Amino acid sequence: MGRVIAVANQKGGVGKTTTAINLAASFAAAEVNTLLVDCDPQSNATSGLGFIKDPERVSSYHLLLGAATAEEALLTTELEQLWLIPAHKNLIGANLELVDAEGREYRMRDALAPLRERFQFIVLDCPPALDLLTLNALVAADAVLIPMQAEYFALEGISELLDTIERIREALNPSLGIEGVVLTMLDERTNLAQQVMAELKNYFGAKLCQTTVPRNIRLAEAPSHGKAALVYDPRSKGAESYIRLAKEIIERQTADVGPQTSESVTTEEHSGEAVVEEIAAPAGEMDKTA
Ligand SMILES: Nc1ncnc2c1ncn2[C@@H]1O[C@H](COP(=O)(O)OP(=O)(O)O)[C@@H](O)[C@H]1O
Ligand SMILES: [Mg+2]
Repeated sequence: MGRVIAVANQKGGVGKTTTAINLAASFAAAEVNTLLVDCDPQSNATSGLGFIKDPERVSSYHLLLGAATAEEALLTTELEQLWLIPAHKNLIGANLELVDAEGREYRMRDALAPLRERFQFIVLDCPPALDLLTLNALVAADAVLIPMQAEYFALEGISELLDTIERIREALNPSLGIEGVVLTMLDERTNLAQQVMAELKNYFGAKLCQTTVPRNIRLAEAPSHGKAALVYDPRSKGAESYIRLAKEIIERQTADVGPQTSESVTTEEHSGEAVVEEIAAPAGEMDKTA
């Protein structure tokens, strides 16, 4: 059974889509069948892989509405082992159209269920909001990968997401784990980056991915060519970092004895509230040094 990873952070511009595209491409390049699902009405993962806007195309919108199967939505890509379920801006309507629908949080999970045997990894690119679309992705997922920038208040911004994850665990998806926190657009030379990295390491422990993604122009250019960075410029620092990240996640999975999904940064004795309090502390400390 494949692993479903939701790339989520309610903050926009932190590198979710860049991470989703390039991580999925790197899994595929490692010769495992991988599916990228665009769950964001902005459809940046779809255009980033070179697909032009087309409201007629079967997309994640149709999956959520139960109007098509995931099989019908599958698109092949330039990479042999990478498939895409695209999005279109009509997806924004699903938030409203599903508001009274029965089992509205389970739509994505149920739609992807028939494909889970076929793909070793299913990567979900989430919108920058904790809305019904992100909720569907987090209910469908085995684990969340959280891209973050090393900046002041980084932890503060994450408390709402961790709180949401905790509530989803309690109510909708008890086995939801945290795949990791990955630092994006990093400039390791700055004192600020070093300091924030130390804080995050302290807070997230082993959940902070060893791989960090540097700020790299190739990563920003690649989507305008409709390509993953490893196709656009395989030797770029950006492409290399996502190849390493994929390797780290694959290795961690094979090294795990029990189901990884049962552990998390929020251990059993911590309630959702405790999580928020804990997070407030390091963010405060960071602030003092400003
Ligand atoms: N490591 C990076 N180096 C340089 N630019 C990046 C990097 N990661 C993301 N970007 C750029 O930053 C912007 C926001 O990234 P994106 O992945 O779209 O974030 P999100 O999906 O969280 O909104 C995009 O223009 C993207 O090309
Ligand atoms: Mg995005």
